[in-house]
Amino acid sequence: MSERTSILVHGGTIVGPGGERRADLLVEDGRVAAVGPDLDAPRGALVLEAGGCYVSPGLVDLHTHLREPGGERAETVASGARAAALGGYSAVVAMPNTIPAIDSASMVRDVLALGAGALVEVAVAGAITKGRAGEQLAPLGEMAALGVRLFTDDGRGVQDARLLRSALEYAGDLEVVLAEHCEDEALAAGGQMHEGSWSSRLGIPGQPALAEEAMLARDIALVRLTGSPMHFLHLSTAGSLALLAAARAEGLPVTAEVTPHHLCLTDEEVASFDPVFKVNPPLRTAADIAALREACRSGLLDAVATDHAPHPVEAKEEPFDSAPPGMIGLETALSATWGALVETGALSPSACFSLLSWKPACIAGLDREGGHGGPLVPGAAAHVCVFDPTERFTVDPSRSASRSRNSPFAGRQLTGRVLHTLVAGEPVVVDGEAQR
Ligand code: DOR
Repeated sequence: MSERTSILVHGGTIVGPGGERRADLLVEDGRVAAVGPDLDAPRGALVLEAGGCYVSPGLVDLHTHLREPGGERAETVASGARAAALGGYSAVVAMPNTIPAIDSASMVRDVLALGAGALVEVAVAGAITKGRAGEQLAPLGEMAALGVRLFTDDGRGVQDARLLRSALEYAGDLEVVLAEHCEDEALAAGGQMHEGSWSSRLGIPGQPALAEEAMLARDIALVRLTGSPMHFLHLSTAGSLALLAAARAEGLPVTAEVTPHHLCLTDEEVASFDPVFKVNPPLRTAADIAALREACRSGLLDAVATDHAPHPVEAKEEPFDSAPPGMIGLETALSATWGALVETGALSPSACFSLLSWKPACIAGLDREGGHGGPLVPGAAAHVCVFDPTERFTVDPSRSASRSRNSPFAGRQLTGRVLHTLVAGEPVVVDGEAQR
């Protein structure tokens, strides 16, 4: 914790579920002490200028690969958390596809211990099956007892419907949420990119949209059968959105996220043969992007989540067909999403922040424990993101706090930059610089 106890965030526009208002924000002892126009800075307070900026509850990422243990050349909990803080996040959910997988209470304890010293709050998702092998259920109850709220085999979907049915039944009893990576491995087998006109032209084997949609349809049927809630990770096709809309209309307890890269980039990028554009699910078509943006606007999609997936430089320098899938994204998520949704006029600023902050906080249960996602009212935990929507910058992965460099936005201009991030009142990022 900083030795200062008072921070004044001065001159910004505060956003939250209730809308926007011009106001200063006074933080004392880790909490919001006052919100209002022209607040005086107490003696010795740190004053953070926020003129022309949005002052949002800290962002919450439902989908972060921190790679520790086992993948420390790509990322550590500390380096990933630093990248998250620079991106305006106050909390992230660490995915369990580490080596070994986070599939037991002891693994959960180890990663939570690593997270305890990190710049942002690190929550942990547990695996649904032992070793994410899709064969036997992991001990969901003992992980839930440690506060795990989301379970996923992400990187893979649970292929065995009977096993997933059992997992959903346990999850319902435990009041936790299963999060599915929808990919039918038989349909996707061998596919390196989206199956469509670009895969044909490039001669790269494709995976069909149906690989995602078939598993999503099956999972929605299992939610109907069990009554247990389910969250769908990184949905990427217009067909998936139609399935989700029907499930919603039926009143099924389903939530879903989209990534910034699926909102911004099409499969045409793969024409460069640059493995930085290889990701799972793959980049899709312009029609899919239009449907995903419309689903953000209509509220069908609940969250934007990064799927920050760091890989070592040499792995991403392999040929396209052998390079691992994944993209880093914590530091660019808000700017990329802003460009796709706010600058295009599809969403208001507060609707954009809702997808990145309070709605994902609620899905992860982080609104309760730790008070992420605001609203920024007196007494609330001071998790804050201050975002300047006007600053233009060129993405330079060599300056990333991540240990990896695989940003699909490298060399591109984005608009809007996180200036300051507070986590429980600690100024972890000030003027765009991480403070430790
Ligand atoms: O592209 C991806 N990379 N998709 C996933 O689901 C997993 C992730 C990873 O862990 O690298």
